[in-house]
Amino acid sequence: MKALLTLGLLLLSATVQAKVYEHCELARTLKRSGMDGYRGVRLADWVCLTQHASNFDTEAINYNSTNQSTDYGIFQINSRQWCDDGKTAGAVNACGIPCSALLQDDITQAIQCAKRVVRDPQGIRAWVAWRDHCQNRDLSQYVGDYVD
Ligand SMILES: *[C@@H]1O[C@H](CO)[C@@H](O)[C@H](O)[C@H]1NC(C)=O
Ligand SMILES: *[C@@H]1O[C@H](CO)[C@@H](O)[C@H](O)[C@H]1NC(C)=O
Repeated sequence: MKALLTLGLLLLSATVQAKVYEHCELARTLKRSGMDGYRGVRLADWVCLTQHASNFDTEAINYNSTNQSTDYGIFQINSRQWCDDGKTAGAVNACGIPCSALLQDDITQAIQCAKRVVRDPQGIRAWVAWRDHCQNRDLSQYVGDYVD
């Protein structure tokens, strides 16, 4: 019983720790990190992308059984090309990080890796979520004038 209670508390604290960014805080953090206009990608594109990819959840993990790779974190960065999760065949790890680094509350490393992704010729089109939900749309709802 005591063990169960301890386990329950551990699970609870793990749940509480998972950081889900609030829209405005994320926009500010991205802006401070030089993401607005990075390789021509506007802040609104980043906010739109992260909303549709992860709903701003830093611990989002989604395995795709079709292509047998996994997307990690707030940007849903893929394990075949960008990070190493030790279980994706043919992984390249172009960001040079373990995929778990993309799940931290502090998104500094996730931002660095997202910048690496858009430095490739395909740019932000690398993200299916961006193509499906943000490309050629009015994105004004994604950033307000609260970003200084
Ligand atoms: C696999 O699918 C995910 C979407 O679930 C996508 O983000 C990723 O880029 C794809 N990876 C490859 C190597 O096609
Ligand atoms: C999984 O990957 C395939 C191939 O890359 C892609 O067509 C499909 O959209 C992905 N599924 C999801 C849920 O993203």
